Amino acid sequence: MLAVATLAALAALSGVNAYNNGLALTPQMGWNTWNHFGCGISEDTILGAAKAIIANNLTQFGYEYVLMDDCWHAPARDNTTGAPVADPEKFPNGIKDLADKIHALGLKFGIYSDAGTYTCGGRFGSLGYEEIDAQTYAEWGVDYLKYDNCFNEGLAGTPLISHERYANMSRALNATGRPILYSMCNWGEDGPWNFAVTIANSWRISGDIMDNFDRADDRCPCTDMLDCKLPGFHCSVAKIIDFAAPVGQKAGPGRWNDLDMLEVGNGGMSFDEYVTHFSMWSLLKSPLILGNDITNMTNETLTIITNKAIIDINQDAIGSPANRMWKRSVNEGGDLSLWAGSLANNSFVFALLNTSPAEQTVYLDFVDVFFDQGKAYQTQAYDVSDLWQKDVAGNWGKSIGTIQGGFNVTIGSHQTKVWRATPVQSANAKRAYGEL
Ligand code: GLA
Repeated sequence: MLAVATLAALAALSGVNAYNNGLALTPQMGWNTWNHFGCGISEDTILGAAKAIIANNLTQFGYEYVLMDDCWHAPARDNTTGAPVADPEKFPNGIKDLADKIHALGLKFGIYSDAGTYTCGGRFGSLGYEEIDAQTYAEWGVDYLKYDNCFNEGLAGTPLISHERYANMSRALNATGRPILYSMCNWGEDGPWNFAVTIANSWRISGDIMDNFDRADDRCPCTDMLDCKLPGFHCSVAKIIDFAAPVGQKAGPGRWNDLDMLEVGNGGMSFDEYVTHFSMWSLLKSPLILGNDITNMTNETLTIITNKAIIDINQDAIGSPANRMWKRSVNEGGDLSLWAGSLANNSFVFALLNTSPAEQTVYLDFVDVFFDQGKAYQTQAYDVSDLWQKDVAGNWGKSIGTIQGGFNVTIGSHQTKVWRATPVQSANAKRAYGEL
Protein backbone atom coordinates (compact mmCIF):
# COMPACT_ATOMS: atom_id res chain seq x y z
CA MET A 1 0.00 0.00 0.00
CA LEU A 2 2.72 2.38 1.04
CA ALA A 3 4.65 1.75 -2.18
CA VAL A 4 1.54 2.48 -4.24
CA ALA A 5 0.86 5.68 -2.32
CA THR A 6 4.49 6.75 -2.72
CA LEU A 7 4.39 6.10 -6.45
CA ALA A 8 1.20 8.13 -6.79
CA ALA A 9 2.82 10.97 -4.88
CA LEU A 10 5.90 10.82 -7.10
CA ALA A 11 3.78 10.80 -10.24
CA ALA A 12 1.92 13.89 -9.03
CA LEU A 13 5.24 15.56 -8.22
CA SER A 14 6.74 15.07 -11.64
CA GLY A 15 3.54 15.95 -13.49
CA VAL A 16 3.56 12.67 -15.42
CA ASN A 17 -0.17 12.16 -14.97
CA ALA A 18 -0.82 15.58 -16.47
CA TYR A 19 -0.88 16.72 -20.10
CA ASN A 20 2.42 15.38 -21.26
CA ASN A 21 4.14 18.52 -22.56
CA GLY A 22 6.31 19.14 -19.50
CA LEU A 23 4.94 22.69 -19.08
CA ALA A 24 3.33 24.51 -16.16
CA LEU A 25 4.86 22.31 -13.47
CA THR A 26 3.98 25.31 -11.30
CA PRO A 27 1.03 27.57 -12.23
CA GLN A 28 1.83 29.81 -15.19
CA MET A 29 2.44 33.52 -14.55
CA GLY A 30 2.19 36.46 -16.91
CA TRP A 31 -0.03 39.19 -18.29
CA ASN A 32 -3.06 39.15 -20.61
CA THR A 33 -4.70 41.94 -22.64
CA TRP A 34 -8.37 41.16 -21.97
CA ASN A 35 -9.36 42.43 -18.51
CA HIS A 36 -8.04 45.93 -19.11
CA PHE A 37 -7.96 46.44 -22.88
CA GLY A 38 -10.72 44.13 -24.18
CA CYS A 39 -10.76 44.29 -27.98
CA GLY A 40 -8.73 47.53 -28.04
CA ILE A 41 -5.38 45.89 -28.65
CA SER A 42 -2.51 46.38 -31.10
CA GLU A 43 1.17 45.59 -31.42
CA ASP A 44 1.86 48.68 -29.32
CA THR A 45 -0.39 47.59 -26.43
CA ILE A 46 1.30 44.23 -26.27
CA LEU A 47 4.89 45.36 -26.73
CA GLY A 48 4.29 48.15 -24.22
CA ALA A 49 3.18 45.60 -21.63
CA ALA A 50 6.14 43.34 -22.41
CA LYS A 51 8.54 46.22 -21.84
CA ALA A 52 6.72 47.11 -18.60
CA ILE A 53 7.25 43.56 -17.32
CA ILE A 54 10.97 44.09 -17.79
CA ALA A 55 11.02 47.67 -16.49
CA ASN A 56 9.19 46.68 -13.30
CA ASN A 57 11.43 43.62 -12.81
CA LEU A 58 8.39 41.38 -12.84
CA THR A 59 10.34 38.49 -14.38
CA GLN A 60 12.22 38.13 -11.11
CA PHE A 61 8.89 37.18 -9.50
CA GLY A 62 8.04 34.65 -12.21
CA TYR A 63 5.85 36.64 -14.62
CA GLU A 64 6.96 35.45 -18.06
CA TYR A 65 4.02 35.02 -20.50
CA VAL A 66 2.69 37.95 -22.54
CA LEU A 67 -0.74 36.89 -23.72
CA MET A 68 -2.73 38.37 -26.57
CA ASP A 69 -6.44 37.65 -26.02
CA ASP A 70 -9.39 38.05 -28.40
CA CYS A 71 -9.68 40.45 -31.37
CA TRP A 72 -6.22 40.15 -32.95
CA HIS A 73 -7.80 38.67 -36.06
CA ALA A 74 -8.31 39.91 -39.62
CA PRO A 75 -11.95 39.75 -40.79
CA ALA A 76 -11.31 36.38 -42.46
CA ARG A 77 -8.82 33.54 -42.83
CA ASP A 78 -6.55 33.33 -45.87
CA ASN A 79 -9.02 32.27 -48.54
CA THR A 80 -6.64 29.95 -50.36
CA THR A 81 -4.82 28.16 -47.50
CA GLY A 82 -7.38 28.62 -44.71
CA ALA A 83 -4.58 29.78 -42.39
CA PRO A 84 -5.38 32.34 -39.68
CA VAL A 85 -4.52 35.96 -40.48
CA ALA A 86 -3.98 38.86 -38.07
CA ASP A 87 -5.58 42.28 -38.43
CA PRO A 88 -3.07 44.16 -40.64
CA GLU A 89 -3.91 47.51 -39.10
CA LYS A 90 -3.46 46.46 -35.49
CA PHE A 91 -0.44 44.29 -36.32
CA PRO A 92 1.29 45.89 -39.32
CA ASN A 93 4.41 43.74 -38.83
CA GLY A 94 2.53 40.49 -38.32
CA ILE A 95 2.38 38.14 -35.36
CA LYS A 96 5.72 36.40 -35.94
CA ASP A 97 7.52 39.73 -35.71
CA LEU A 98 5.67 40.52 -32.46
CA ALA A 99 6.57 37.12 -31.01
CA ASP A 100 10.22 37.63 -32.02
CA LYS A 101 10.32 40.99 -30.26
CA ILE A 102 8.80 39.49 -27.11
CA HIS A 103 11.28 36.61 -27.20
CA ALA A 104 14.13 39.09 -27.61
CA LEU A 105 13.06 40.59 -24.27
CA GLY A 106 13.43 37.14 -22.69
CA LEU A 107 9.65 36.63 -22.42
CA LYS A 108 7.19 34.14 -23.88
CA PHE A 109 4.26 34.88 -26.15
CA GLY A 110 0.71 33.57 -26.10
CA ILE A 111 -2.27 33.73 -28.43
CA TYR A 112 -6.04 33.19 -28.11
CA SER A 113 -8.54 31.20 -30.12
CA ASP A 114 -11.85 29.43 -29.63
CA ALA A 115 -13.09 25.83 -29.93
CA GLY A 116 -16.08 27.03 -31.90
CA THR A 117 -17.07 28.71 -35.15
CA TYR A 118 -16.35 32.20 -33.80
CA THR A 119 -14.47 33.63 -30.84
CA CYS A 120 -16.46 35.34 -28.10
CA GLY A 121 -15.65 38.66 -29.78
CA GLY A 122 -17.06 37.33 -33.10
CA ARG A 123 -13.77 36.64 -34.91
CA PHE A 124 -13.08 33.37 -36.74
CA GLY A 125 -12.77 30.35 -34.41
CA SER A 126 -10.66 27.19 -34.71
CA LEU A 127 -13.33 24.46 -34.75
CA GLY A 128 -12.42 22.27 -37.75
CA TYR A 129 -9.19 24.25 -38.29
CA GLU A 130 -7.22 22.84 -35.35
CA GLU A 131 -4.25 21.52 -37.35
CA ILE A 132 -3.62 24.51 -39.57
CA ASP A 133 -4.08 26.87 -36.64
CA ALA A 134 -1.72 24.97 -34.32
CA GLN A 135 0.82 24.73 -37.14
CA THR A 136 0.59 28.45 -37.87
CA TYR A 137 0.91 29.37 -34.20
CA ALA A 138 4.03 27.19 -33.97
CA GLU A 139 5.50 28.91 -37.06
CA TRP A 140 4.76 32.30 -35.52
CA GLY A 141 6.67 31.27 -32.35
CA VAL A 142 3.67 31.00 -30.05
CA ASP A 143 4.38 29.50 -26.59
CA TYR A 144 0.86 29.47 -25.11
CA LEU A 145 -2.70 29.06 -26.35
CA LYS A 146 -5.81 30.19 -24.47
CA TYR A 147 -8.69 28.29 -26.05
CA ASP A 148 -12.21 29.62 -25.49
CA ASN A 149 -15.71 28.10 -25.74
CA CYS A 150 -18.07 30.50 -27.53
CA PHE A 151 -20.12 29.38 -30.58
CA ASN A 152 -19.31 25.73 -29.92
CA GLU A 153 -22.22 24.49 -32.07
CA GLY A 154 -23.67 22.58 -29.12
CA LEU A 155 -20.63 20.31 -28.88
CA ALA A 156 -20.89 20.25 -25.09
CA GLY A 157 -23.21 18.70 -22.52
CA THR A 158 -21.19 15.64 -21.61
CA PRO A 159 -17.56 15.38 -20.52
CA LEU A 160 -16.87 13.12 -23.52
CA ILE A 161 -18.13 15.62 -26.10
CA SER A 162 -16.25 18.50 -24.50
CA HIS A 163 -13.16 16.35 -24.11
CA GLU A 164 -13.10 15.46 -27.80
CA ARG A 165 -13.50 19.05 -28.94
CA TYR A 166 -10.66 20.25 -26.69
CA ALA A 167 -8.48 17.16 -27.25
CA ASN A 168 -8.45 17.90 -31.00
CA MET A 169 -6.50 21.07 -30.35
CA SER A 170 -4.37 19.38 -27.70
CA ARG A 171 -3.26 16.76 -30.25
CA ALA A 172 -2.70 19.41 -32.92
CA LEU A 173 -0.49 21.44 -30.58
CA ASN A 174 1.54 18.37 -29.63
CA ALA A 175 1.95 17.43 -33.30
CA THR A 176 3.74 20.73 -34.01
CA GLY A 177 6.67 19.61 -31.86
CA ARG A 178 6.82 23.08 -30.27
CA PRO A 179 6.12 23.22 -26.51
CA ILE A 180 2.90 25.25 -26.30
CA LEU A 181 1.20 25.66 -22.94
CA TYR A 182 -2.48 24.77 -23.42
CA SER A 183 -4.89 26.84 -21.34
CA MET A 184 -8.47 25.67 -21.77
CA CYS A 185 -11.20 28.25 -21.27
CA ASN A 186 -14.49 26.35 -21.24
CA TRP A 187 -15.71 28.08 -18.04
CA GLY A 188 -16.02 24.82 -16.06
CA GLU A 189 -18.57 23.30 -18.47
CA ASP A 190 -18.87 19.51 -18.16
CA GLY A 191 -16.31 19.48 -15.33
CA PRO A 192 -12.89 20.00 -16.95
CA TRP A 193 -11.21 19.17 -13.61
CA ASN A 194 -12.30 15.59 -14.41
CA PHE A 195 -11.82 15.31 -18.17
CA ALA A 196 -9.09 17.84 -19.04
CA VAL A 197 -6.35 16.66 -16.73
CA THR A 198 -4.53 14.72 -19.46
CA ILE A 199 -5.14 17.13 -22.36
CA ALA A 200 -4.50 20.62 -20.97
CA ASN A 201 -2.21 22.45 -18.57
CA SER A 202 -5.04 24.46 -17.04
CA TRP A 203 -8.76 24.96 -17.40
CA ARG A 204 -11.05 27.79 -16.38
CA ILE A 205 -13.47 26.71 -13.65
CA SER A 206 -16.12 29.44 -13.94
CA GLY A 207 -17.71 32.21 -15.95
CA ASP A 208 -15.70 35.41 -16.41
CA ILE A 209 -14.46 37.34 -13.41
CA MET A 210 -15.68 40.89 -12.72
CA ASP A 211 -13.65 43.53 -10.95
CA ASN A 212 -15.78 43.36 -7.80
CA PHE A 213 -15.44 41.58 -4.48
CA ASP A 214 -18.87 40.12 -3.74
CA ARG A 215 -21.64 41.79 -5.74
CA ALA A 216 -24.39 39.32 -6.70
CA ASP A 217 -25.10 39.33 -10.44
CA ASP A 218 -27.58 37.11 -12.29
CA ARG A 219 -25.27 36.95 -15.26
CA CYS A 220 -23.20 34.55 -13.12
CA PRO A 221 -26.23 32.50 -12.05
CA CYS A 222 -24.82 29.23 -10.67
CA THR A 223 -24.40 28.71 -6.94
CA ASP A 224 -21.74 26.07 -7.50
CA MET A 225 -19.91 24.81 -10.58
CA LEU A 226 -20.40 21.07 -10.15
CA ASP A 227 -23.75 21.06 -11.97
CA CYS A 228 -23.70 24.49 -13.57
CA LYS A 229 -25.68 24.88 -16.80
CA LEU A 230 -24.78 28.53 -17.47
CA PRO A 231 -21.36 29.72 -16.29
CA GLY A 232 -22.01 33.24 -17.65
CA PHE A 233 -19.87 36.21 -16.67
CA HIS A 234 -19.74 38.97 -14.03
CA CYS A 235 -18.64 36.45 -11.37
CA SER A 236 -17.33 38.16 -8.23
CA VAL A 237 -14.06 37.24 -6.55
CA ALA A 238 -15.86 35.83 -3.48
CA LYS A 239 -18.06 33.68 -5.72
CA ILE A 240 -15.11 32.28 -7.70
CA ILE A 241 -13.35 31.38 -4.44
CA ASP A 242 -16.48 29.42 -3.44
CA PHE A 243 -16.52 27.70 -6.85
CA ALA A 244 -12.86 26.72 -6.48
CA ALA A 245 -13.11 25.21 -3.00
CA PRO A 246 -14.22 21.67 -3.93
CA VAL A 247 -12.11 21.20 -7.09
CA GLY A 248 -8.68 21.90 -5.63
CA GLN A 249 -8.26 18.16 -5.20
CA LYS A 250 -7.99 17.73 -8.99
CA ALA A 251 -5.05 20.07 -9.56
CA GLY A 252 -1.34 19.37 -9.46
CA PRO A 253 1.87 19.96 -11.39
CA GLY A 254 1.04 20.49 -15.07
CA ARG A 255 -2.75 20.62 -14.48
CA TRP A 256 -4.29 23.62 -12.76
CA ASN A 257 -7.69 25.08 -11.98
CA ASP A 258 -7.77 28.54 -13.58
CA LEU A 259 -9.79 30.97 -11.44
CA ASP A 260 -9.55 33.54 -14.30
CA MET A 261 -7.20 36.42 -14.87
CA LEU A 262 -6.39 38.87 -12.11
CA GLU A 263 -8.19 42.18 -11.66
CA VAL A 264 -5.63 43.63 -9.23
CA GLY A 265 -5.01 47.25 -10.25
CA ASN A 266 -8.13 47.68 -12.39
CA GLY A 267 -9.84 49.87 -9.80
CA GLY A 268 -13.03 48.04 -8.79
CA MET A 269 -11.81 46.75 -5.42
CA SER A 270 -10.13 48.09 -2.28
CA PHE A 271 -6.54 47.29 -1.29
CA ASP A 272 -7.75 44.63 1.20
CA GLU A 273 -10.02 43.07 -1.43
CA TYR A 274 -7.20 42.87 -3.97
CA VAL A 275 -4.98 41.32 -1.27
CA THR A 276 -7.69 38.70 -0.75
CA HIS A 277 -7.98 38.14 -4.51
CA PHE A 278 -4.21 37.71 -4.99
CA SER A 279 -3.80 35.59 -1.84
CA MET A 280 -6.60 33.17 -2.62
CA TRP A 281 -5.62 32.76 -6.27
CA SER A 282 -2.13 31.93 -4.98
CA LEU A 283 -3.22 29.44 -2.33
CA LEU A 284 -5.59 27.71 -4.74
CA LYS A 285 -2.75 27.42 -7.30
CA SER A 286 -4.49 29.34 -10.02
CA PRO A 287 -2.37 30.68 -12.85
CA LEU A 288 -1.39 34.24 -11.91
CA ILE A 289 -2.12 36.23 -15.05
CA LEU A 290 -2.12 39.99 -14.50
CA GLY A 291 -5.02 41.79 -16.18
CA ASN A 292 -4.29 45.44 -15.43
CA ASP A 293 -2.43 48.16 -17.33
CA ILE A 294 1.09 47.33 -16.19
CA THR A 295 2.53 50.40 -17.93
CA ASN A 296 0.75 52.55 -15.34
CA MET A 297 0.58 50.98 -11.87
CA THR A 298 0.13 52.47 -8.41
CA ASN A 299 2.51 51.49 -5.61
CA GLU A 300 -0.34 49.58 -3.98
CA THR A 301 -0.84 47.45 -7.08
CA LEU A 302 2.88 46.80 -7.42
CA THR A 303 3.09 45.91 -3.72
CA ILE A 304 0.41 43.25 -4.08
CA ILE A 305 1.60 41.62 -7.29
CA THR A 306 5.21 41.44 -6.07
CA ASN A 307 4.62 39.86 -2.67
CA LYS A 308 7.32 37.20 -3.02
CA ALA A 309 6.16 35.20 0.02
CA ILE A 310 2.65 34.85 -1.43
CA ILE A 311 3.98 34.05 -4.92
CA ASP A 312 6.21 31.38 -3.34
CA ILE A 313 3.04 29.68 -2.03
CA ASN A 314 1.58 29.68 -5.54
CA GLN A 315 4.81 28.37 -7.06
CA ASP A 316 5.57 25.78 -4.36
CA ALA A 317 7.07 22.61 -5.85
CA ILE A 318 4.47 20.10 -4.63
CA GLY A 319 1.63 22.05 -6.26
CA SER A 320 -1.03 21.17 -3.73
CA PRO A 321 -3.92 23.66 -3.51
CA ALA A 322 -5.08 24.71 -0.05
CA ASN A 323 -8.34 23.21 1.19
CA ARG A 324 -11.17 24.97 3.00
CA MET A 325 -11.12 23.47 6.49
CA TRP A 326 -14.25 25.29 7.64
CA LYS A 327 -16.64 28.03 6.62
CA ARG A 328 -18.84 29.79 9.19
CA SER A 329 -21.59 32.31 8.59
CA VAL A 330 -21.34 35.42 10.73
CA ASN A 331 -24.15 37.62 12.09
CA GLU A 332 -23.37 40.58 9.86
CA GLY A 333 -23.70 38.45 6.69
CA GLY A 334 -20.90 36.81 4.70
CA ASP A 335 -18.60 34.32 6.33
CA LEU A 336 -15.26 33.45 7.78
CA SER A 337 -13.29 30.58 6.30
CA LEU A 338 -10.08 28.79 7.18
CA TRP A 339 -7.86 27.41 4.40
CA ALA A 340 -4.83 25.17 4.86
CA GLY A 341 -2.37 23.44 2.59
CA SER A 342 0.91 21.56 2.50
CA LEU A 343 4.12 22.97 1.05
CA ALA A 344 7.42 21.38 0.15
CA ASN A 345 9.91 20.56 2.94
CA ASN A 346 7.35 19.92 5.69
CA SER A 347 6.10 23.50 5.64
CA PHE A 348 2.47 24.59 5.70
CA VAL A 349 0.35 27.54 4.68
CA PHE A 350 -2.92 28.59 6.24
CA ALA A 351 -5.19 31.57 5.71
CA LEU A 352 -8.24 33.21 7.21
CA LEU A 353 -10.71 34.95 4.88
CA ASN A 354 -13.42 37.35 6.06
CA THR A 355 -16.10 38.08 3.44
CA SER A 356 -18.35 39.79 6.00
CA PRO A 357 -18.81 43.58 6.20
CA ALA A 358 -17.49 43.69 9.79
CA GLU A 359 -14.28 42.98 11.68
CA GLN A 360 -14.22 39.51 13.24
CA THR A 361 -12.20 37.80 15.97
CA VAL A 362 -11.74 34.07 15.97
CA TYR A 363 -9.54 31.42 17.57
CA LEU A 364 -7.56 29.51 14.94
CA ASP A 365 -7.33 26.03 16.36
CA PHE A 366 -4.42 23.92 15.10
CA VAL A 367 -6.76 20.91 15.30
CA ASP A 368 -8.45 22.47 12.25
CA VAL A 369 -5.33 23.85 10.57
CA PHE A 370 -3.57 20.46 10.73
CA PHE A 371 -6.67 18.25 10.57
CA ASP A 372 -5.29 16.38 7.54
CA GLN A 373 -1.89 15.76 9.15
CA GLY A 374 -3.21 14.17 12.36
CA LYS A 375 -2.65 14.55 16.06
CA ALA A 376 1.14 14.83 16.18
CA TYR A 377 1.01 17.79 13.80
CA GLN A 378 -1.93 19.36 15.63
CA THR A 379 -0.09 19.44 18.94
CA GLN A 380 3.48 20.38 18.02
CA ALA A 381 4.94 23.89 18.00
CA TYR A 382 5.47 25.92 14.83
CA ASP A 383 7.48 28.91 13.77
CA VAL A 384 4.77 31.04 12.19
CA SER A 385 5.17 34.04 9.92
CA ASP A 386 2.59 36.49 8.59
CA LEU A 387 3.05 36.71 4.82
CA TRP A 388 1.45 40.16 4.47
CA GLN A 389 3.91 41.75 6.89
CA LYS A 390 7.55 42.50 6.18
CA ASP A 391 10.43 41.46 8.43
CA VAL A 392 13.16 43.88 9.62
CA ALA A 393 15.16 43.23 6.45
CA GLY A 394 12.17 44.30 4.36
CA ASN A 395 11.24 40.83 3.12
CA TRP A 396 7.66 39.62 3.09
CA GLY A 397 6.94 37.15 5.90
CA LYS A 398 7.37 38.53 9.43
CA SER A 399 7.74 36.05 12.27
CA ILE A 400 4.88 36.20 14.77
CA GLY A 401 6.65 33.72 17.05
CA THR A 402 6.53 30.08 18.07
CA ILE A 403 2.95 28.90 18.41
CA GLN A 404 1.43 25.72 19.74
CA GLY A 405 -2.27 24.79 19.81
CA GLY A 406 -3.65 27.86 18.05
CA PHE A 407 -4.05 31.63 18.42
CA ASN A 408 -6.61 34.43 18.32
CA VAL A 409 -6.92 36.50 15.19
CA THR A 410 -8.77 39.74 14.55
CA ILE A 411 -9.44 40.33 10.89
CA GLY A 412 -11.02 43.27 9.06
CA SER A 413 -13.83 43.18 6.54
CA HIS A 414 -12.90 41.57 3.21
CA GLN A 415 -9.39 40.86 4.44
CA THR A 416 -7.34 37.71 4.09
CA LYS A 417 -4.45 36.91 6.40
CA VAL A 418 -1.93 34.31 5.30
CA TRP A 419 0.61 32.49 7.46
CA ARG A 420 3.40 30.04 6.79
CA ALA A 421 4.19 27.48 9.50
CA THR A 422 7.25 25.28 9.94
CA PRO A 423 7.45 22.76 12.78
CA VAL A 424 9.91 23.56 15.56
CA GLN A 425 11.48 20.18 15.96
CA SER A 426 11.66 19.15 19.60
CA ALA A 427 14.55 17.00 20.83
CA ASN A 428 12.11 14.08 21.02
CA ALA A 429 11.01 14.52 17.46
CA LYS A 430 14.61 14.75 16.31
CA ARG A 431 15.38 11.49 18.17
CA ALA A 432 12.42 9.84 16.47
CA TYR A 433 13.77 10.94 13.07
CA GLY A 434 17.23 9.65 14.08
CA GLU A 435 18.78 13.11 13.96
CA LEU A 436 20.07 13.00 17.58
C1 GLA B 1 -14.54 34.85 -22.99
C2 GLA B 1 -13.40 34.46 -22.05
C3 GLA B 1 -12.68 35.73 -21.60
C4 GLA B 1 -12.14 36.47 -22.80
C5 GLA B 1 -13.28 36.78 -23.78
C6 GLA B 1 -12.77 37.33 -25.11
O1 GLA B 1 -15.54 35.58 -22.33
O2 GLA B 1 -13.88 33.73 -20.96
O3 GLA B 1 -11.63 35.42 -20.70
O4 GLA B 1 -11.16 35.69 -23.44
O5 GLA B 1 -14.05 35.61 -24.08
O6 GLA B 1 -13.81 37.60 -26.01
